[in-house]
Formats: sequence, C-alpha cells, structure tokens
Amino acid sequence: MTSSRSLTALLALLALSLPLLATLIPTASGGIADQAIRRTVAPRFFNATNLDACKAIEAAIDRTATPVSTLEYFGGFNYLLSTGRYISSAANTPTCVFIPTTPKDLASAVKIIGQKRISFAVSSGRHASNAGFSSTTGVEISLKGFQHVTLSQDKSYVDVGSGNIWDNVYAALEGSGYNIVGGRVTGVGVGGFITGGGGFSWKTNQYGLTIDTLLQADLVTPSGKVQTVTAASDPDLFWAIKGGGNRFGVIYNFRLKSVPQVAQVWGGLRTYTQDQLDNVVQATYDFAVHNKDPKAQVIPTINHVLGQPGVSLLAFYDGPTPPADVFAAFNKPGFNTFTSDWKTRSFGDLVRSSPSNATAGQRGAFHSVTFKSYSIPILQQIVNQTRYYGSQQPFHSGVFTSYDVEPFLPNYAAGTNKGGAWPHDQSPLPLNIYFTWLNPLDDAFWAKEIKKTAALLRAQAVKEGQNLDDVYLYPNYAIAGTSSNKVYGPQSAQRLRTLRKKYDPKNVMGLTTYFEF
Ligand SMILES: Cc1cc2nc3c(=O)[nH]c(=O)nc-3n(C[C@H](O)[C@H](O)[C@H](O)COP(=O)(O)OP(=O)(O)OC[C@H]3O[C@@H](n4cnc5c(N)ncnc54)[C@H](O)[C@@H]3O)c2cc1C
Ligand SMILES: *[C@@H]1O[C@H](CO)[C@@H](O)[C@H](O)[C@H]1NC(C)=O
Ligand SMILES: *[C@@H]1O[C@H](CO)[C@@H](O)[C@H](O)[C@H]1NC(C)=O
Ligand SMILES: *[C@@H]1O[C@H](CO)[C@@H](O)[C@H](O)[C@H]1NC(C)=O
Repeated sequence: MTSSRSLTALLALLALSLPLLATLIPTASGGIADQAIRRTVAPRFFNATNLDACKAIEAAIDRTATPVSTLEYFGGFNYLLSTGRYISSAANTPTCVFIPTTPKDLASAVKIIGQKRISFAVSSGRHASNAGFSSTTGVEISLKGFQHVTLSQDKSYVDVGSGNIWDNVYAALEGSGYNIVGGRVTGVGVGGFITGGGGFSWKTNQYGLTIDTLLQADLVTPSGKVQTVTAASDPDLFWAIKGGGNRFGVIYNFRLKSVPQVAQVWGGLRTYTQDQLDNVVQATYDFAVHNKDPKAQVIPTINHVLGQPGVSLLAFYDGPTPPADVFAAFNKPGFNTFTSDWKTRSFGDLVRSSPSNATAGQRGAFHSVTFKSYSIPILQQIVNQTRYYGSQQPFHSGVFTSYDVEPFLPNYAAGTNKGGAWPHDQSPLPLNIYFTWLNPLDDAFWAKEIKKTAALLRAQAVKEGQNLDDVYLYPNYAIAGTSSNKVYGPQSAQRLRTLRKKYDPKNVMGLTTYFEF
C-alpha cells in the first residue's frame, strides 16, 4: 500500500518535473527543451486514423484471458512506462501502446494494422539505436506481455518470451545448471537481439551466436496468422527471421537450445585511466591473438567521457576461477587499474555489473565495422579516433564516445554456424561504435561522423591486407540507412527480398521501419 502510494507520488512528480526540467536546460536554440517536451507531452492532436485503429484493437481484446491484454493512450501508466528507451533519439510519441498477453490478441492487432494500413512498431527491450525501428507515432506493440522463461522438462531447451530482457532470463535459470546463449550486459531485450541476427554472447566462443541455438519460433505472420516455425517446417522463414528484424512477423516465443552453466563464473568490470591506454592496446592485442580458451572473453571499451579518454573493460570466464595464464596480459606489473571488480560471482551478477545504463536516456547512435582480426595499428587508430571525437564533444553537446572491441576466437563460428539471414560463416568480429550527445541539433553532425570514423577504421584494416568483402555489418549495430548489401551481403539481401514478397505480399511489415531490402 505504502509503496504503491509512493510510486504514484514519484510518477506524478516525474511527470510534472520532466517538462519543467526540459525548459530549464539552457540552449541557444531551445532545441533540447523542445525535443524533451515533445517526448513527454502529447501532441495537440493524435492522428484520427491511428486512434480509430487503437479502438479497434482494444475492442478485439479477449477479456477472458489472464492477464488481460492492455491498450493505453497518452497518460496511461503502461504508456508512460513504455516511453523510456535506451537511446532517446530513437523515441517517438505513439498514439497508443498495445501490450498483448496472448498470441490471439497479438494476431488481431496485426490484422487490424494491416487492414487499416497504420504505422506501427514492435518493441521488446527498446534498445534499438535507430529511430522508428521500435518506435512510432502510430500503434506501438510492446511485447512486455510475453515474459515467460520455461526450461523444458528434459532441460534441453528454454522457451523465452520475446518481451524479456536478458537479466530476467538469467535470473530465471539461475541455479538450474543450464543457461542460454544471450546478451552480455544489463537491460538488453531478447526480441531485437535475436531478430537482429544476434547475438554476441559471453557463450559465443563455445556455442556460436544466439541464432545458432534457435530451435523454434512462435510468431504472428504479417497476415495475422499464429504459426510455429522450425528449420524443418519452413526452412525459408526460419532462415529469414534469423537477422531479418521485424520484416517477417512478430515473434512471441523463442525456443532456444540450453547449454550447461556452472553455478559460479568469474569476471566483471575494470576501468583504466588514459595513462594506461598503451597497456590496454597491447594486452587486448595479446589476448586477441593468443587466447585459445573458449571460456574466456573480454570487451575493452575505449571511451571518452568527462573530458578524458579511458577504458571500461569487461572480462568473463565460464568457470569460478580462470587458469592463471588466460588473462595474464591484463595483470602485468605497471598495468594499473583505476577500479577493479573482477571476481567469482553468478552469471546474472556478472551481467548486471556492466556499466551500460550509465549513458541510458541520451541521444545516440550506433555504427560498426566488421573485422576479421585486430592488429596493434587498428587498436591504436581506435584510441586516436576516441581522442579525436572526444575533442569534438564540447562543440557538439557530446557526452560519450566509445568503441567496443570484441575479440572473439578466430573461427568461432566454424563448428556452430547454423545459417540465417545475417551471414556469419566468416566468423565476423563486429566493432560497436557508440556516440551520445544532448542537443537534437547535433544529430546530423554525429550521424555523419560515426559513418566517417567507421570508414576510416575499415580502410585501416583493408590497408593492412584484411579482405572485408565477405563480412557484413551486424544489423544490431549498423546505423539506419546502411544498404542491405552492406548489412546482409548481396546474396542474403536478394534472398530476403524474394522471401519478403512471398511471406508478406501486402507489405504489412513495411508499415514499420527497419533496414530496407
Ligand atoms: C547497452 C547495449 C548493450 C548491447 N549488448 C549487446 C550484446 O552483448 N550482444 C549483441 O549481440 N548485441 C548487443 N546490443 C545490441 C542489441 O542486440 C540491439 O540493440 C537489439 O536490437 C536490442 O533488442 P531490444 O529488444 O532491446 O530492442 P527493441 O528496440 O525493442 O527492438 C529492436 C528491433 O527488433 C525488432 N523486434 C524486437 N522484438 C521483436 C519480435 N519479437 N519480433 C519481431 N521483431 C522484433 C523491433 O521492431 C526493432 O526493429 C546491445 C545494445 C545496447 C544498447
Ligand atoms: C495518419 O496516420 C496514417 C498511418 O498511420 C497515415 O497514413 C496518415 O497520412 C496520417 N494522417 C495525417 C493527417 O497525418
Ligand atoms: C538497467 O536498466 C534497465 C531498464 O532499461 C533495468 O531493467 C535494469 O535492471 C538496469 N540494470 C541495472 C544493473 O541497474
Ligand atoms: C587521428 O584521427 C584523425 C580524425 O579522424 C585523423 O585526421 C588523423 O589522421 C588520425 N591520426 C593518425 C595518426 O592516423
């Protein structure tokens, strides 16, 4: 009682103070203030066609289901909760937010949207970096109503509701002796991670990408039919959803192969100040080249924040204590940490130890380069790029500039690749470039520069002799507008185009946004 009353009070306070705060943020143009208000205050009029569709979807809700699906307009509790997203520049103000709890209600919504041809979006963990990919001014279908995590009786697979974040999944499986190949850091959603061709996991060196462990997907097709898809039942559709994003329907359940999980793993976050950058470059290179242990992984993030460059480094070992030599490159004398939280802990605790929420809620962009290997000059250029774009922050309301280096084992995909729309037979190594800023007037600047920095780093690798013509940009990291040839490669892109026509002849999924193919 008390806690719900104080929650209500807190929400009321938030609702009142957000627009106020926005008007107080000083800008020459009023840009930030305008945008923040637009995000939190309803437009003067909602589009009548969209409103009409919302009402039809609401009327079709099965009232006998428990829990019952909900549809809310601006001001509703779930509506307001749903407006938060990791990257604020990817946000929109939906006419209504629909949270189906049954496949049947999800199906009637998709049917109504298709008939009335309404703009819509499908959202899971809301971590998309690209505007419109999971946001809309029309109907937002939030998958939050599908949050089951069920380990099968024989423990060989797990059914995962598409509206979960990975944190929930790990919490549910903790202590079972089993896990699945999922996200590495806190807050990321299951739905986008898998449909975006993912995902890159702490378990990837051992078991491949998450899409390589997909056994079955339960979805609503673009024409509004509830359907179960496996590699055997419909190989084309099964292939397409493994990277084709929101183009082939709305998935409400993923059946994922389980993998063994020891109770205690090891790792966590270390941070380094700028005087250690050379050591970080050397150690990252040594690890990338010499590590042979598939249970070990690191993600050094070279970043620039609060006026200086530095490093956040996440490490993982799939066991309670790593063999001494595995992370030796990071433990050399004189290689000093600023903070260190490497320790034995549960898998879920390790995922929660990531600092990724620190930049949540800012404007931002992701982009990527796909390498085949890392060299010292590539890593040094990443440091140089971090310094350069860090130096641009004061002039373009920049807050955070970062490059996530993800040195998986060479040939990690060799024994695990089960295909899919995002080609990964060449064991691609995706670099995640992530910039954040505050002023909407700087959107164009950072979008242009993130493409420039990616092009420069790619050119560096090509100059060193890497052939990058047969590796493509990871859909979950690539910036909107990247051509399908660059995201999927010409062959996959062509097959996706053909399959779209077959599975969605009326182009219903074209009413939401994704990469064009
Ligand atoms: C902090 C952070 C950490 C990350 N860490 C990793 C990582 O470790 N490994 C990795 O591989 N990637 C990682 N990513 C990238 C991540 O995979 C993408 O951002 C992904 O799109 C997030 O999924 P979501 O469900 O949270 O996003 P949403 O914004 O909800 O959805 C993303 C896209 O998927 C579509 N979609 C979502 N669910 C469904 C569904 N059920 N059916 C059909 N379409 C659907 C949406 O319409 C949208 O186009 C990270 C991203 C961030 C911001
Ligand atoms: C209302 O939204 C629909 C799609 O959802 C769009 O086709 C139509 O043009 C919009 N109308 C106005 C007046 O913006
Ligand atoms: C990070 O934010 C998400 C909301 O996006 C939340 O669910 C999660 O618990 C947060 N993680 C931590 C470690 O606070
Ligand atoms: C460092 O980055 C800047 C900006 O991209 C670039 O102009 C410069 O040539 C780079 N320096 C080196 C040594 O490559």
